[in-house]
Amino acid sequence: MMRRGWREQGELVRFRLGPRECVLFTGPEAHDAYFRAPEDQLDAKAVYQFTVPIFGRGVAYDVAPEIMSEQLGFLVPALRETAMHRFARIMFEETKQFADALGEEGEIDLPAAMNALTVNIASHCLIGEEIRDQLDAGFAEAYRDLQKGINALGFFLPRLPVPSHRSRDRARRKVAELFSRIMAGRRLSGAEPDDFMQTLLRARYKDGRALSDDEITGILLTVLFAGQHTSAVLATWTGLELLNAPASLAQVRDEMQNVYRAPGATMNFETLKRQAALERAIRENERLHPPLILLIRKVLKPMRYGGHVVPAGALAMVSPAVSHRLPHVFANPERFAPDRFAPPAAEDKQHHYALIGFGGGKHRCMGKHFAYMQLKAIWTLLLDRFDFRLDAAIPAPNYGSWVTGPRAPCRVRYRRRPEASLFQ
Ligand code: HEM
Repeated sequence: MMRRGWREQGELVRFRLGPRECVLFTGPEAHDAYFRAPEDQLDAKAVYQFTVPIFGRGVAYDVAPEIMSEQLGFLVPALRETAMHRFARIMFEETKQFADALGEEGEIDLPAAMNALTVNIASHCLIGEEIRDQLDAGFAEAYRDLQKGINALGFFLPRLPVPSHRSRDRARRKVAELFSRIMAGRRLSGAEPDDFMQTLLRARYKDGRALSDDEITGILLTVLFAGQHTSAVLATWTGLELLNAPASLAQVRDEMQNVYRAPGATMNFETLKRQAALERAIRENERLHPPLILLIRKVLKPMRYGGHVVPAGALAMVSPAVSHRLPHVFANPERFAPDRFAPPAAEDKQHHYALIGFGGGKHRCMGKHFAYMQLKAIWTLLLDRFDFRLDAAIPAPNYGSWVTGPRAPCRVRYRRRPEASLFQ
């Protein structure tokens, strides 16, 4: 419907969702205006209230935008280059463990497999080793129950006392207990592992105040929810599209040979950066299959754009799924063509906001580089170990879920490669 809206009405499409007026902004110039608008004009907080029972009180969308930004800012040191070197190692080790468990050949449900792997990576990198070790001790289950709290009912009535919301609230309490126990253990032992939890334990607000255990739990959950499922879904699409495009797959495999064939070459932050063909393939999946298809803000003050006024009270939206298929921005937009991002076309460089799969402006994703590195590590190691086969066509997107993955069934066959592995 939104794609048709763009064809018929152009950059601004007005429509109604129940009682609410909505306006979709499409195209690089419109994105620019959208992402530049101040928070007191286009407000994210009002729209993302459904996350408050999950992330908790006093953090993220429950606090003023400047406090949320201070809280997320605490994590910036945890995503600097030195930390990324460590994360690259963890991504490699986790994927290796996952690949070893697959055995010689078989069939996997790709979305479920990518979900399991990214939960391991995210809990290990983003929260801490203790949580990774305790995944079986209730965290994974609590995380699943929290995820079930993200549904259409929760979006409109987040506090309604229905069973899924009750188990969501129980799970939030359980995660708080688990994280508090870990923080108490660290304080007692003096252990200071280099991870997000420790970064938050060290952080201080501008007024010198330390964060409470519950605030730390909330910020960690914010990052986990922002980064895990989205990564799993983009990893799934990347695998599906590569299996369906033999020439692109061969290019990625050749590049792996070039980067890793030297004796003693290991997978690390530097070598992953050199995998440009794989990066273009991931970017093409960000374009064709953005995991978040709709970003929403509430209009607090009327906004002028292109001779129109978007009224206060409306919902203002951008849709990466619509914007990434504009024929005047991306040549032959329905085609999977990773080389569109290589020079000279470099279609992503033609405008700052041509690609918006990771958002833009103040709320742009802070984990984009982490996500790209993770997807590269996963597919490099899996393609090194296995040949994969997709027997059916690539499934259509499942728009019924908050993060848009492929519809079930989505099974992929694999067989261990006879060639010697590039990695120990
Ligand atoms: C493929 C993976 C990912 C995708 C597609 C993605 C996409 C996005 C998008 C579109 C936004 C903007 C939302 C909006 O404007 O309403 C966003 C925000 C955010 N992302 Fe990501 N993300 C991914 C991975 C990650 C990872 C790995 C992390 C953490 C390490 C992360 C942390 C965040 C945070 C904290 C925000 C909120 C920023 C703010 O509101 O100030 N994301 N992400």
